[in-house]
Amino acid sequence: MIIILDMTAHRLPVDRPSFDTATAHFDELGRHLWEPIGAATVAALALRPGERVLDACCGTGASALPSARLVGPDGTVDAVDISDPMIDRLRRHASDLPQLRASSADVTTWEPSGYDVVQAVLGIFFFPDMAAGTDHLVSRARVGGRVGLTVWRRGAMEAAGARLGRAVSEVLGTPPSGPPPSPPPARDIRTVEGFTDWLRDRGLHDVVVRVHEHRLPMTPDIAWLVVLGSGFRAALDPLDEEGIEAVRGRYLELLAEDDVTELDATTLVGTGSRR
Ligand SMILES: C[S@@+](CC[C@H](N)C(=O)[O-])C[C@H]1O[C@@H](n2cnc3c(N)ncnc32)[C@H](O)[C@@H]1O
Repeated sequence: MIIILDMTAHRLPVDRPSFDTATAHFDELGRHLWEPIGAATVAALALRPGERVLDACCGTGASALPSARLVGPDGTVDAVDISDPMIDRLRRHASDLPQLRASSADVTTWEPSGYDVVQAVLGIFFFPDMAAGTDHLVSRARVGGRVGLTVWRRGAMEAAGARLGRAVSEVLGTPPSGPPPSPPPARDIRTVEGFTDWLRDRGLHDVVVRVHEHRLPMTPDIAWLVVLGSGFRAALDPLDEEGIEAVRGRYLELLAEDDVTELDATTLVGTGSRR
């Protein structure tokens, strides 16, 4: 097992991370992390009543729920996630929003199209082929429709990922680092310039990339919630309860030793229109 936990890279190198085990804590982390980031994306897209929206990689609804409220009863939001537990939870949150239709599916093969808006918040870097998966999403928008894609800025989440990776390695007794991460693509989507160019390569025009600065106070509770309620959770899957407790202790110790009191969770919110 490779233990490099870099959520800003183009995929989590814990094979293909499943969010299923993170679902229980995902909502709890949401108010600190997912909800402000989802709100920034929805604001950048300026949704209007009556619009038809595809929310790809929707999780438990950080962007899909506010979108459904904005498009109102005359609009629709198709919220799609590959994780069944995420979708079950979203359906419960959206019980008073019939315009939100939650589906469990791989969005890289989602067929409906003609959307006014296609959005994916912190999702595209999990696609096995990020460019091809994103091209498919863009093709789901109508010509002239808006596309909004949000990714981590370079360096975001690293302070937690590095300490967690070390703690997991120590507890499992595996070498501290695996093979080096694969080199970034020619365009590094974790920078404003790289992401702007990459979005233009996807055939979008009027591309704007906004920086959404966000920081989390790393109290022990929030620091551990960052692990339990995110893609980092997959790194704990090979461990039993005792092992998880040992990782928790070591991870918090490493954060304290290095005086990490804050976590950079800044994102890049990219928008553009389909040609
Ligand atoms: C970091 S979470 C973000 C969730 C949500 N957009 C938010 O901001 O709270 C990434 C989500 O992408 C989903 N995902 C990853 N690959 C997917 C795919 N091919 N199709 C649909 N969902 C996918 C995961 O299951 C997970 O719920």
